[in-house]
Amino acid sequence: MTMSQLLGHVAILFFCVLKASSLHTFTAAVYEHAVILPNATLIPVSHEEALLLINQNLDLLEGAITSASKQQNLFLGEDEFNAPKEPEVVTFNTTFGKFGIFTCFDILFHDPAVTLVKDFHVDTILFPTAWMNVLPHLSAIEFHSAWAMGMGVNFLASNLHYPSKKMTGSGIYAPDSPRAFHYDMKTEEGKLLLSQLASHPHPTAVVNWTSYASGIEAPSMGNQEFKGTIFFDEFTFLELKGVAGNYTVCQKDLCCHLSYRMSEKRSDEVYVLGAFDGLHTVEGSYYLQICTLLKCKTTDLHTCGDSVETASTRFEMFSLSGTFETQYVFPEVLLSEIQLAPGEFQVSSDGRLCSQKPLSGPILTVTLFGRLYEKDSSPNAFSDPMAQII
Ligand SMILES: *[C@@H]1O[C@H](CO)[C@@H](O)[C@H](O)[C@H]1NC(C)=O
Ligand SMILES: *[C@@H]1O[C@H](CO)[C@@H](O)[C@H](O)[C@H]1NC(C)=O
Ligand SMILES: *[C@@H]1O[C@H](CO)[C@@H](O)[C@H](O)[C@H]1NC(C)=O
Ligand SMILES: *[C@@H]1O[C@H](CO)[C@@H](O)[C@H](O)[C@H]1NC(C)=O
Repeated sequence: MTMSQLLGHVAILFFCVLKASSLHTFTAAVYEHAVILPNATLIPVSHEEALLLINQNLDLLEGAITSASKQQNLFLGEDEFNAPKEPEVVTFNTTFGKFGIFTCFDILFHDPAVTLVKDFHVDTILFPTAWMNVLPHLSAIEFHSAWAMGMGVNFLASNLHYPSKKMTGSGIYAPDSPRAFHYDMKTEEGKLLLSQLASHPHPTAVVNWTSYASGIEAPSMGNQEFKGTIFFDEFTFLELKGVAGNYTVCQKDLCCHLSYRMSEKRSDEVYVLGAFDGLHTVEGSYYLQICTLLKCKTTDLHTCGDSVETASTRFEMFSLSGTFETQYVFPEVLLSEIQLAPGEFQVSSDGRLCSQKPLSGPILTVTLFGRLYEKDSSPNAFSDPMAQII
C-alpha cells in the first residue's frame, strides 16, 4: 500500500454532519485528523501493517465522532448515494439541503467541482483532502474559503493534520464568510470544528468580475514594473511605494487595480500589486488570471512571491479589482500567521474585493484568483498527485 492509497482511505472518514432541530439550518462538524503515517521506507508496507495503521487512525476518529455526536443526532447518509453520468459526480439529498462530494485537487478544475454547483445545484460540498499548503495563494483555509465565496456554496473541508508535510487547515465555510477554521503547524493534535450553516445558502448576488475595472483609465506605470515568480508562474509586479495610493498593473489581457491605505508605511516591509494571465503548467495544466496584493518575503524585490507567513503592516482599507474574462473568480484574504478575516471584506456586484473595516491583522495577501477553464490545454491533466497537493 502506498502512502497516497493510505491517505486516501483515511481521509474520506473525517466528516460528520449533525442534524439540527430546524431544517433551515444544520450543524456541520469537520475533524482535522492527526494522521499516523508509516515510517519512511523504500519497502512497501505490508497489508497487515497497513491495516494496523488504519485501525490506529480509526480509534482516534472514533473518539472525535463520539464527541461530535453528543451535540445535536449523528447523520449517516440515510438517503441514496447517486452517481449519474460521470462516475466522479457524487450527490445526495437530505432534509437539510443537497450535498456533493469531491476531493483534493479536483477543486482547481471544472469537473466535477463547478459542475456540482452549476448543474447539480448542491447547497453544501464535502471536501476530504490531504492538502499541502502552498503560499501565497494555495494554503488550504485561504483557497477553500475563497471557493465557497466564489461559488456561493457551503464548503466543509477536512484536511489531514500532518504539519511536517505542511498538511493542516480545515474549515466550515459559508458563502458570505468562514464560520470556523483551524490552522495549526505547532502541535500534533487533531481538532474538531462545529458550526451552524444554512441548509440552503441564500443565492449570492451575481458579480460582474470586470465591470468596475474595465471602466478605469489608469496611467501606465510600465517603467516601474518588474517580474517575479509565484508557484512557477511569472507575474508582473509593481511596488506600493506610498502609505496610500491607486495602482494599476497589467499582463496580457488582465489589468489589476488597487486602492489602498495603510496605517503606516514601514521601511522593513515591501508590498506589491501583481498580475498574471497565463497557463500554469507545473503539476497540472490550468489557465489562471490572478490579481494579487502581497507582502514580499524581505525588502529585496527578488523575494516577492516567495512564501512568507508573518507581516506587521496594517491596512485601513483596500479595494482590488481586475478585467477578468471569467465568472469564476475566488476572493482570498489571508492575514499574518495564516489567519482568515471573517466578516472584514466583501465582494461588490461590480467585481471589487473591498475591506469593510480596518483589518484585524496585518495582511499577507489579498487576491482575486480567476480560473479560465475553457483555456486549459488538457482538462484535469495532473502528472504527480503526491508531489504537491492532492
Ligand atoms: C516508526 O518508528 C518508530 C521508531 O523506530 C517507532 O517507535 C514507531 O512505532 C514507528 N511507527 C510506525 C507507524 O510504524
Ligand atoms: C434530490 O431532490 C431533487 C428535488 O426534489 C430531485 O430533483 C433530485 O433528483 C434528487 N436527487 C437525488 C440524488 O436524489
Ligand atoms: C460586465 O461589465 C462589462 C463592463 O461594464 C460589460 O461590458 C459586460 O457586458 C458585463 N457582462 C455581463 C455578463 O453583464
Ligand atoms: C484613489 O482614487 C480614489 C477614487 O478615484 C480617490 O478618491 C483617492 O483620492 C485616490 N487616492 C490616492 C491616494 O490617490
